[in-house]
Amino acid sequence: MKRFAIAVDGPAGSGKSTVAKAVAKHLGIIYVDTGAMYRGVAYFCIQQGVSPLDEAGVLSLLNNIKMEIQPGRDGQRIFLDREDITSKIRTQEIGLGASQVATLQAVRQKLGDMQREMAKNNSVIMDGRDIGTFVLPQAEVKIYMDASVEVRARRRMGELEAKGEKPVFEVICEEIIRRDENDMNRLYNPLRQAEDAVYLDTTGMGIDEAVEAIIRITEGKI
Ligand code: C5P
Repeated sequence: MKRFAIAVDGPAGSGKSTVAKAVAKHLGIIYVDTGAMYRGVAYFCIQQGVSPLDEAGVLSLLNNIKMEIQPGRDGQRIFLDREDITSKIRTQEIGLGASQVATLQAVRQKLGDMQREMAKNNSVIMDGRDIGTFVLPQAEVKIYMDASVEVRARRRMGELEAKGEKPVFEVICEEIIRRDENDMNRLYNPLRQAEDAVYLDTTGMGIDEAVEAIIRITEGKI
């Protein structure tokens, strides 16, 4: 089969990564989680004592970041200077930091180039905020995944509780709304649905249903 790309964009907690990972497994293609790369940049900055809000500081570190992505069918691993940071970047603090460094054009350009490189020789399903609009505008399949704030907050609560944390629903809702605002209103590559993307509302959907929906859409297009 010819190489193809599936771009999945949408807000935090819409189910993109869980669903995209399952689709990758089903189709035997590579899953690329671009959010992890923005998280990797935020993690590096914080580790170096630079706030993700400090634009000049972040830009001065950008060329020193030695980030390596190992994509896989079961998920991807991310390394910083050979250290596996895959699970260390899954915190609320790093998520918010990621959305702050993601406002900088130079950061987006650098990570966008790395992402395009990964899609060059492999069939991929790539999830993020600007994949269908900026990173892979020629993707054969584009999906915009969405869900209500309440449902997204409940999913996030479940993930955090599974890690032994005790999140507060209202706080998680507020964080999701703040992150949506950052992502949708930034100057460079804001989160928006590509004109040729299929809108998939997962509010009332289970994982399997969303996976099936994407596979059905994909089968009609490749
Ligand atoms: O998807 P995840 O929650 O891990 O992404 C963290 C943050 O990284 C997002 O809130 C967003 O600001 C940023 N991001 C982005 N563009 C992408 C992927 C993530 O701006 N393609």
